[in-house]
Amino acid sequence: MDTEKEILIFQPAEETARRAADLVISRLSAATRPLHLALSGGATALLLFRALCAADTDELLRERLRLWWVDERCVPPDHRDSNYGAARQALLEPLRIPTGHVFRMQGELEPDAAAPEYEAQLGAQLPAGPLGPVFDMIFLGMGTDGHTASLFPGDEGVFTSRRLVTTAVHPANGQKRLTLTPRTINNAGLVFFLVCGADKAGMCRRILNRLPGEPLLPAGRIRTPRGRLVWLLDGAAAAGLAGQH
Ligand code: 6PG
Repeated sequence: MDTEKEILIFQPAEETARRAADLVISRLSAATRPLHLALSGGATALLLFRALCAADTDELLRERLRLWWVDERCVPPDHRDSNYGAARQALLEPLRIPTGHVFRMQGELEPDAAAPEYEAQLGAQLPAGPLGPVFDMIFLGMGTDGHTASLFPGDEGVFTSRRLVTTAVHPANGQKRLTLTPRTINNAGLVFFLVCGADKAGMCRRILNRLPGEPLLPAGRIRTPRGRLVWLLDGAAAAGLAGQH
């Protein structure tokens, strides 16, 4: 039985990001061991990073957080497109997260080598569950086309893949990607989407108030049968949802 998704709406985007940061911090505060959190990239991620840096919980985050990535562009870590590079600048360095607590996808490697290498790290470092390595928390964004991670519309095979990490290609620009698979994402203890901005309102409606006959899109296929699924939206992204008028 899928756990029902929770939809939480706040204003403005910065407050929504702060609530997402609170989700992470409250779990860390209650934990008796380090927790593994996988990060997405993109502009919304920077809102979350800023909220985490502003929370005045640096020591807790430094000690208890183990950071991974949901996906990565297949570029070197200092490339302007690197998700790790963006997080290093906006989160890792400001919080002085120890390098030993950071597990980046190696975008500089050949993708077909980098994916199994990351799978091996997941297996070695994460708690093991009946369906494979279990992330304590996963932060997801959503594109205006309904993608999440680097799971793009039309990528049907990845939803039945037994892989933990796989390769992908961005449909618009052909950029090679590494991404956690739905198998890994759906196995997490907590998955939270942070989606902000009016440009996401139409897709949020299509995913969260999907009409019969409308296609299921990747962000709408994230389920947490053994965990908690939370969508945190700002008012602009939620504007198209039932009851938001
Ligand atoms: C990536 C992300 C991707 C992102 C969404 C939302 O590597 O681009 O992981 O899944 O979360 O595209 O991006 P924005 O926040 O920039 O809209």
